[in-house]
Amino acid sequence: EKEGYNHFMIKEINEQATSVRNTLTQREHIQEIIDDIDEGIQRICFVACGTSYHASLTGKYLIESLAGIPTDVILASEFKYSANTLNDKTLVIFISQSGETADSLKALDVANETSKTLGIVNVAGSSITRRAEYVIQTQAGPEIGVAATKTYVAQLTSIYLFAALLAKNTELLEELEKVPDFIDEALEDIDFIKEISKRYNYARDFFYLGRGYSYPTALEGALKLKEITYIHGEGYAAGELKHGPLALIDEGIPVVVIAPPGDSHRKTMSNLEEVKSRGANVLAIGSADDDALKTKADDIITINPEVNEIIAPLVYVVPLQLIAYYITLEKGHDPDKPKNLAKCVTVE
Ligand code: F6R
Repeated sequence: EKEGYNHFMIKEINEQATSVRNTLTQREHIQEIIDDIDEGIQRICFVACGTSYHASLTGKYLIESLAGIPTDVILASEFKYSANTLNDKTLVIFISQSGETADSLKALDVANETSKTLGIVNVAGSSITRRAEYVIQTQAGPEIGVAATKTYVAQLTSIYLFAALLAKNTELLEELEKVPDFIDEALEDIDFIKEISKRYNYARDFFYLGRGYSYPTALEGALKLKEITYIHGEGYAAGELKHGPLALIDEGIPVVVIAPPGDSHRKTMSNLEEVKSRGANVLAIGSADDDALKTKADDIITINPEVNEIIAPLVYVVPLQLIAYYITLEKGHDPDKPKNLAKCVTVE
């Protein structure tokens, strides 16, 4: 069922435009949920693990800036250790591919006692879909590769729809319709990324830097790298660099800089220069017409200039997934079955 692909992961990476397109069909259903719960919601709280946590973080940036509703993001495994202060004016959103993650389920039972709950889940009929008050079904289809790829962009699509509808932001809703094409364009760079990956597989450590909307993307890029290549990768908010990790930047260390056009761009460029001047090997992901970025980075993977920093999380993650995939092949590991990991984590 790999349909000619060598691994499920690369097949699923290639299915991401479809995953977004199919999830966009949930718009009406999401509007109905909003119509039902909007009244009186004063706070939103996301609860999730791993990749789903990174989608949630993006949700915080979006919902706060578009809809102005205070939003928190809590790791499901930490949920019981913080007071949380949930009440009946809180909407608690559980993002989960499998719908069976034990930590998330535990937290859902607690949240159901006080608050409205919404599950954003890929697996139909899973425990979270049965226990949450409202459900958005991501339309990625079954995901076999352990590393989440097409389900991540589907989660993001649901959150973008939710935030845009909540804020009645028609401009963003129109932008979202273009995302599948932007993703397919990003996939056209596959051969180039394969080449680059050969040059980076020597590394023992990688850094991923991004600001604002690109910060969760940096975390996700690093997680993909860690879980399948077994190379140590750290995602950082680019502005945090000076507060410690800059001490680790040395000659030849790869730093992936996520630099889409937008408000964050100028400052991300100065962070790029900071690592470059300490000898880092900078691999930048940026707009195809970003000439400054081209002169400053050692390597650059380009994205359609129309993709601004707000929708960038849906598109800029694609090259990061591909980098992790091709480095894994270079190292001779199986990207579909990383050691020590399971697709679904049913123990706390
Ligand atoms: C990473 C990955 C994991 C999951 C995490 C949560 O590629 O797949 O980090 O995202 O275990 O799982 P779900 O989304 O099923 O709750």
